[in-house]
Amino acid sequence: VQDLFRAKFLSGYQVLVTAGPTREEIDPVRFISNRSSGRMGYAIAQAAQAAGAQVTLISGPVALSPLTGVQLVSVYSAQEMLAAVMTQVATVDIFIATAAVADYRPSQPLGHKFKKHEAHWQITLERTPDILATVASLPHPPFTVGFAAETDNLIEYARAKLQLKKLDMIVANPVGIAGIGFDSEENELSILWAEDSIELPRAAKTELAKQLLEVIIQRYQKSGR
Ligand code: CTP
Ligand code: CA
Repeated sequence: VQDLFRAKFLSGYQVLVTAGPTREEIDPVRFISNRSSGRMGYAIAQAAQAAGAQVTLISGPVALSPLTGVQLVSVYSAQEMLAAVMTQVATVDIFIATAAVADYRPSQPLGHKFKKHEAHWQITLERTPDILATVASLPHPPFTVGFAAETDNLIEYARAKLQLKKLDMIVANPVGIAGIGFDSEENELSILWAEDSIELPRAAKTELAKQLLEVIIQRYQKSGR
């Protein structure tokens, strides 16, 4: 890994990374979101920059500092993240979707604060756009890498997502285990593509990011794009 990074093996490449959660507004003071800290995505953006790539990081709301040398686009909702991705994607070589995009949003966000007059409150939710699937189905998509966060059937569900969304690669990430995944410093990853897979055992997200980038660039070069 060290040698590849010293050789700036991503020089001349444009890499686009999504990171963090999105927030979907219920009313002006409330939102739906999730436990993503953004750490994995920021670590990948940082590693890609260190490897010489020109990196754009499209980030939902996180408590992390901007990265030196990485262009940061801050967004709020899934819809905003999609719009930001689509304005960047045409010139991108590699797209890495680490964001934990909210799958549902309130169908009718309220323009005023909802008052607690009732014992129950029902909110109707609708699906958000799938940013990764949208990118992968473009006529000339970049090399597209997704993540799959799963509590069970990790590899099976990840491989299904690889095929369904027509991705070049998917990174399976167990969640719901103490100390790894969402909102933690460490992770363990399985990287899957059509022909094969590789396991990256538990390590700091910063270390895993470098190892993952190495695998991505090898596959990207073999893909001949
Ligand atoms: N993703 C996305 N846009 C969405 C939902 C997910 O771009 N609206 C991306 C994520 O960034 C990730 C991949 O799709 O790279 C898989 O996300 P995940 O939540 O694991 O899977 P989903 O397809 O959303 O399905 P489910 O949550 O039901 O498992
Ligand atoms: Ca999801």
